[in-house]
Amino acid sequence: MEKGARLYEGKAKILYATSDPDLVIQYFKDDATAFNAAKKGTVQEKGIMNNKISSRIFEFLEKEGIPTHFEKMLSDREMLVKKVVIVPLEVIVRNRAAGSLCRNYGLQEGTTLSCPVLEFCYKRDDLNDPLINDYHVLALNLATEQEIADLKKYTLKINELMTKFFKNLNLELIDFKLEFGRYKGKIILADEISPDTCRLWEVGTGKKLDKDRFRHDLGNIEEAYQEVLRRVTK
Ligand code: TMP
Ligand code: ASP
Repeated sequence: MEKGARLYEGKAKILYATSDPDLVIQYFKDDATAFNAAKKGTVQEKGIMNNKISSRIFEFLEKEGIPTHFEKMLSDREMLVKKVVIVPLEVIVRNRAAGSLCRNYGLQEGTTLSCPVLEFCYKRDDLNDPLINDYHVLALNLATEQEIADLKKYTLKINELMTKFFKNLNLELIDFKLEFGRYKGKIILADEISPDTCRLWEVGTGKKLDKDRFRHDLGNIEEAYQEVLRRVTK
């Protein structure tokens, strides 16, 4: 598939057109940012690892009946995906307290939650991606009632599937962020699923194998991502 014009560049990925108007190439960079790009850096070969990890997870979710934008991996850093219009929401699920949940609600990291928490954040870097609820989503015309129902249904199902998937690899899925897009009138899963967008702790040791190593300068970032890749592709 020929790489065409650059359509969009984000913090971790670039999108390129292809000869097919329904398909684009998602190119994974090594750039890493945290806290809305207040912290910047690069992680050696992160793009390669995230492309491979994401591809494997999208394949798994497709097989389990979740509609996704994934078509195939084209090269180490390139994934062929359906061209969607992104719904401007970050859909987050939390199984254990970490990150902003601890900051916002005064919880200790690792606290078990009585049920999974689903959150919507408005994808607006200029506003720091604020937490919003269903009423905001409807009032701001970010998604319809039917789309909100689909987003929740898919996200909770994906949480069940991924929790089991990672448990089999001796990893606990603490929380994660999803993005969805509109494609031919339907909502499908888009973006990426990787240690950039999930918190993954090793079962038993509690070792963090995700972007928190970058966010909080814990060291051995490449090794952590490599370890997730090794387990996911075993
Ligand atoms: P948070 O605790 O910082 O709100 O993050 C929750 C989850 O969402 C965590 O797995 C990291 C992921 N995430 C992203 O993928 N992108 C983001 O911009 C943010 C803030 C979080
Ligand atoms: N991805 C976000 C940023 O660009 C934040 C994060 O993942 O912590 O800064």
